[in-house]
Amino acid sequence: MVSPWEALLFVVLDVSQTAIEATKRRLGAAAEQVRWLCGDIVEVELEPKAYDVWHDRAVFHFLTTPEQRAAYVRQVTRAVRRGGHVIVSTFATEGPTKCSGLDVMRYDTASLHHEFGAQFRLMESSKESHDTPFATTQQFLYCYCRLN
Ligand SMILES: C[S@@+](CC[C@H](N)C(=O)[O-])C[C@H]1O[C@@H](n2cnc3c(N)ncnc32)[C@H](O)[C@@H]1O
Repeated sequence: MVSPWEALLFVVLDVSQTAIEATKRRLGAAAEQVRWLCGDIVEVELEPKAYDVWHDRAVFHFLTTPEQRAAYVRQVTRAVRRGGHVIVSTFATEGPTKCSGLDVMRYDTASLHHEFGAQFRLMESSKESHDTPFATTQQFLYCYCRLN
């Protein structure tokens, strides 16, 4: 019998091939069920209306210019099918101002949703205290939207 997971196609994207290789090692044999894409999320070519779920944890907050953020939102709008699920998590307003030495943005629910616009119907948002491997705690915000 085919498990429901085997019927799903998972695509994982990162700009870093090193990050992709580390994630593949962690997944072991399950990595074969994933299509891996190495590229910048604001530029990479994604298949239109091909995705039911878009899940970004801790990438959007690295986009520090309005142009990068607008390009990202165009990518989600183009790649996710209508009615699809979009989950984006970023540093919350109490989160750090830098990550891995890079400047980052911080958001509350209203400011994050504002970046995406009314076409993204806000369903839920929540905060999380994330314990890092470096024994620090980072405040994250999660927003879950449906694409109209
Ligand atoms: C804090 S890590 C989060 C990794 C993973 N999403 C998780 O939750 O564990 C941020 C990741 O975003 C990637 N990244 C940063 N800017 C990116 C971009 N413009 N396009 C794609 N990936 C990017 C980095 O290479 C890094 O692996």
